This record gives sequence, structure tokens and C-alpha cells, in this order.
Amino acid sequence: MYGLSRRAFLSVAAGFGSLAGLSLVSAARASDRPTMPVPPELRADSSGSIALRTEAGTGQFLPGITTPTYGINGPFLGPAIRVRRGDQISMNVTNGLDENTTMHWHGLKIPGDVDGSPYTVIKPGDTWRPTLNIDQPAATCWFHPHFYPTTAEQVIKGLAGLFIIDDDETDTLGLPSRWGVDDIPIIIQDRRFNSNGTFFHRFNLAAVTTGYVGDTMLVNGAHDPVARTARGWLRLRLLNGSNARTYRLAASDRRSMFVIAGDGGLLAEPVELKELTIYSGERYEVMVDARDGVPFDMMTLPVDQMAMSLPPFHAPLRLVTVNPEGVDIAGALPDTLVEVPPLVKNQPPVSQELVMEMNMDDQGMGAFKAAGLMEMTQSGKADPNIIKAVNNLITDGPALPLKTQLSANAVNGQPFELGTVPFSAPLKTDLRWKISEGTDSMYHPVHIHGCQFRILELNGAAVPAHMAGWKDIAPVLKGGSCTIQIRFDHPAGKEAPFMAHCHNLEHEDSGMMTNFTVG
Ligand code: C2O
Ligand code: CU
Ligand code: CU
Repeated sequence: MYGLSRRAFLSVAAGFGSLAGLSLVSAARASDRPTMPVPPELRADSSGSIALRTEAGTGQFLPGITTPTYGINGPFLGPAIRVRRGDQISMNVTNGLDENTTMHWHGLKIPGDVDGSPYTVIKPGDTWRPTLNIDQPAATCWFHPHFYPTTAEQVIKGLAGLFIIDDDETDTLGLPSRWGVDDIPIIIQDRRFNSNGTFFHRFNLAAVTTGYVGDTMLVNGAHDPVARTARGWLRLRLLNGSNARTYRLAASDRRSMFVIAGDGGLLAEPVELKELTIYSGERYEVMVDARDGVPFDMMTLPVDQMAMSLPPFHAPLRLVTVNPEGVDIAGALPDTLVEVPPLVKNQPPVSQELVMEMNMDDQGMGAFKAAGLMEMTQSGKADPNIIKAVNNLITDGPALPLKTQLSANAVNGQPFELGTVPFSAPLKTDLRWKISEGTDSMYHPVHIHGCQFRILELNGAAVPAHMAGWKDIAPVLKGGSCTIQIRFDHPAGKEAPFMAHCHNLEHEDSGMMTNFTVG
């Protein structure tokens, strides 16, 4: 027996005081629900090589509907690459698509020429062969294409995978490590489908304003699945692989999530949370106590973000049911994890500012306002006419001319321009940077290549404990800012600079990206 009982569901909702208009989404019988797929692990072969191939395929995400997809070594998403600190990996990335792509190793501390940025194009039929020297702590990173300006669309079609780094220190902690049994990858993505079954994606006014707004959730490429796990302490490796959506994760029975790792590695000690907000591109590893063998749902709770509260996200929504009815597994939550280096005592002055700006903000807001979105959000009442009007704006708004799209957003007043490198940073130097939001009302999860940084201050407050470790994404909120301690241990030249951009991929592909050299 799994799935959420009506009573359990209502008690979740009651906890958030948003019972009004709550629709029970747990209607599908458990037996109709797919088992959550677990991406296969992929390790280097005896010669130290890993082969990846992007390819087109099809998938069945909704009953009876075939959807054209992209995938890596398979029809949708990719394998979970598994490497160890100290490894030297020869990557062979073959582009089996009939369009250009790149492959970026998100979170890896490597030089610009192997980073897979928009500068390192892989043409159809070509193979790219970077050598990756893995020298950073154990972490759950990921990989995805970064071709400008079609990253957003290629990710929607299915190009993304986990990139997991192991190390000796982490091995001694006895964390759950049986892949798919008690060490569970969870890739969270939203999608929207056209009536012919294809994935919806379009660069219109709505998209460059809010980013992609899906209406259907996928977890590891399955809609509303059931994860069949061991009974014991589980380690969930969470990746928000969505183009733009933010999730507020909570267990349906309010059981605690103990955050053990952020983007770039383990924390000093577990941080107990009942709710975990995860922005696009971010990763967290959380442990949950499932020794009781009782099924629970991982839910997302409504977030306060433009257009992201459209149904079914206006109420707590189930992403995946965790059913820990498999083998009993011994194991415990460690009291302490790893030593996270102390922050630099005397912080240098801010040497670089990044201001995220939305050039078409007014027009976008105006359109959403005209459709009634603000009124509806304020009143808290779901008005079907307004919902329809807002959805129409998202799906029917005409695609922007390419030139308009590419300058819809900016960093430091400058929409991204391939070949123009506005600044540089010194090598192997502790720096302090400031990232801020313009005057718009969006959230910008800002990602920087070539490093793992530490958040010093976030939106006017001290950094929350679960974000105090290594990060490669800093979520800058409405009108907020963030200071980070950052250091580059690898160079990046003019021909392959590092990128800094909003990880809302529609913002990225519409100008909210910049690049810089190191060295
Ligand atoms: Cu995950 Cu520059 O990207
Ligand atoms: Cu990256
Ligand atoms: Cu953004």
C-alpha cells in the first residue's frame, strides 16, 4: 500500500493554511503509477575514458502520448557519471543530433578550455575529447548542454545528467551508497506538452520574463512515479534540473530532511529542515529516516514567484512517492560530516559586481498584469478565467524575433555577446564578489563556472546553515543581493572564458549571461 491517504494529504495542506481550492492530485491509483527510473551509473572504462553521445529519441511521459526527446546514451536524460577525486578522465562526447550543441560539466573545478561553455561547440557528428582532472571534494554535480542560445530548449528536450564525484574522506562516513537502493538520485523537472505530444518550448514575452512555466512534473523522466527503496536511512540526491521553476520540498508527513550536502560538497554537519527550497540548477543531498517502512510523498509547496503558482502548483503537489518497503538497511545519520574550510578572515573589498537585469520586465509584467495574474495572486482565489488567460500568454504568445530575444535581459547592462569578454579575474586569489538583482521582481539563481564559492551574505541576511558549504549557485531574490567568497584555481582564456549567468535558462538564453577570463 502506498500513495498518500486523503487524511495525510489534507494534514499537509492544513500545515500551510492553503486549504482553499485544494484539489486532490493523488487521484491516480498507485498501481497505475510508474516506478521511478534510476539513471544508470557510468564509470570510466579501464583506459580512463567515458563515452557520451547525444541522440534523438522518443518517450512516453503521459499515457498514450509519444513525445520526441533528446537524451545522452539513451532516449531521455543521461547516465549518472561517477568519478573519484584524483581521476583523470578522457571524455568522448559525440553529437548525434542534427544541431550544434556543447557539453558543460556544471560544478566542476576545471579550466575554461574543457568546461564545455558556449565557446566549445560540438557540430553534428563530431566528437569532443576534453581531459578532466578531478580535484575537488565529493559532490553531486551535473552536466548539460550550453549552446548559445538554445541551452533552454535542448535541456527541455532531455539533455541533462548527474555527475557524481566520490572521495576517500566521504567513504569513511558510511553514508548510504547503494545506488537506487538507499542512495537515490532525484532529478526534478517541469514540462508542458503541445497537443501533438511534443514538449512545449517557445521564446516569447512570457518566457523571457518568468522563464519556463510547466504544468506537469517529471522525476527522473517519469510523471508522478513511485520510488521503491530500501527501508532505512535514505540519501536523496536532489537536482533541480528545471529550466526556471523553484521548488519548496517537504515530506507529506512532515518528516525531517537532513541536508548533508549542497552544490559543491558535504556540509560540516547535517542540517535538519522540514522544508527545503531548491532553485534551478541547485543540488542538495538530504537524508531521510525511512526505517519505519512507511511510504511518504515528496511534495512541493506553493512558492511566491511570478506565474509559478498556476495550478497544479497553487497547492501542495506530489512529485514522487517514496515507498521504503525493500530490504532493511543498517546505517545512521552521522553527527558530523567533513571539515569545511573556514572563511577568509579579512575579506577583500568587492572586486566584481554582477547585476542581473531584465530589459523587457515592464512589458512582461504588464502582460501578466493585464491577464489578471497579480489580482489573482493577491486575492488567493483561483479564478479559472484568469488561469486560462495566463496560460494562454505562456503558450500562445508569439515567439520574439531572435534579436529581441537575445537582448531581453542583461548582466551589468549588457546582454550576452559571444566573443565579448567584459572582465577578468586573477588566478588562485581569494576574492569577494557581489551579485545583485536589478529592480525587477524575479528570482535569479546565479551560477558561476570554474569554481565553487561560499555565500557570505544572502539577501540581507546571514547565510542559512544548509547553504553555508560549497556552492556554485547563489539565488538572488527580488531586489536582493548576495556577497560571495570566490577563488579560481584554473585558468580560462579569451577563446574559452568562464560563464556567469542566471540559471533560469530562458533568462540565460535571452541575455542574462556574461563571461570572463581567469589568469
Ligand atoms: Cu548549469 Cu553555465 O550552467
Ligand atoms: Cu556550470
Ligand atoms: Cu534570472
